[in-house]
Amino acid sequence: MRIRFTELAGVVGSPQPLATDALCGAEMASLPVLREAFVDVVDGRIAALGPMAECPTDDAGWDVRRLPGQWMLPGLIDSHTHLVYAAPRVTEFRMRLDGASYHDIAAAGGGILNSAAAIEAADESALLELLLERLEKARATGTVAAEIKSGYGLTLESERKMLRVVRRARELQPMPLWATFLALHALPKGADLDTYVEDAVAHWLPVLADEGLVDFVDVFCEANYFRPIDVHQLAEAAAKRGIPLKAHVNQFQSIGGIQASVAANARSVDHLEVLTEADLKSLAQAWAHGNGPMPVALPHCSLFLDIPFTPGRALIDAGLPLAIASDCNPGSAPSSDLRMAWSLATHQMKLRVDEGLAALTANAAYAVGAEDRMGRIQPGMDAHVILTQPMADYAELPYFTSENRIAPTLIYGR
Ligand code: NIG
Ligand code: FE
Repeated sequence: MRIRFTELAGVVGSPQPLATDALCGAEMASLPVLREAFVDVVDGRIAALGPMAECPTDDAGWDVRRLPGQWMLPGLIDSHTHLVYAAPRVTEFRMRLDGASYHDIAAAGGGILNSAAAIEAADESALLELLLERLEKARATGTVAAEIKSGYGLTLESERKMLRVVRRARELQPMPLWATFLALHALPKGADLDTYVEDAVAHWLPVLADEGLVDFVDVFCEANYFRPIDVHQLAEAAAKRGIPLKAHVNQFQSIGGIQASVAANARSVDHLEVLTEADLKSLAQAWAHGNGPMPVALPHCSLFLDIPFTPGRALIDAGLPLAIASDCNPGSAPSSDLRMAWSLATHQMKLRVDEGLAALTANAAYAVGAEDRMGRIQPGMDAHVILTQPMADYAELPYFTSENRIAPTLIYGR
């Protein structure tokens, strides 16, 4: 398969293979751009790109696509989703509009426990159908790869059901997917905290990992949910199996989740809506020592729950990297739209256009450990890209708050 994209208005990419490190601080603001360009894709990978003046004239054996005025950008990578769920939670939405908080709803037995009851009742193939539809929808707004968490199971059987759905989806559609065992998400009614942690960490994790269902583990480290010590336990057990940690931290309160995640060599720390000076310092120190977790902001969650936006501007200004993901889930972020997350990052988090794009591409790839394969348009990378409608400046993508001018999204060049 040899596809030549020609006459592009421009490509956000580089003809030379550049380093695939996370982009930190000021590096995020100026991505390489080539105007009036061509891109060659061979067998699903970027083979070459360059200015049109250097485009080979012998097209024999090439499927040539002329795309005057259109831009090619790296596809958006969703490093944090809960895309396997049985049903929306609109009753809770109404309750919040009547004045109840996210915490009030959870304390009354709703929230994550509500989604868990629905997962338990749902059959695997119904969940699979829903997931496939959601992946299609995400792709229309620029998503080319996604991480998907369990965590609405809360029993071994239901957690396995969720993770099996991800595995089956991987076989049925082209988008690369990572499965995360969200081992510690909420405590079932009446359960004892220590016993639950012990079950999830010492009993469920080995079973699910042996079945090949787990790429990452995750924990919701938050007051009234799980503690930093639980982060340690989970990470230690996972590390013995070579499985890296991701963590939900600092969504509502700062309780030491960042420090526990740094100590556990986490691949990413996600949410960070509440970030103290000490937390920022812990992250900066970790990155200075070369073993920092990728900070991941989830702007749809801030929008939907009306909580602070993660201080992405401050993180970048401190020289740190930042990734952005959707957090798509029925309780706190009912949207998989990463183009809109880019828009929110610029309008609400005061990121520059390229900073937002870097957060959704190269740094998002880092957050799932795939930075050597995707997140950039350069020779050797998989051809997961966005094509835009004809436009003078790709900044039109985040500029429009709700209009989607992506057309279409290509995975392995198709
Ligand atoms: O990332 N914060 C924890 N978990 C999810 C939301 C869970 C839910 O309410 O269903 C999140 O926001
Ligand atoms: Fe989440």
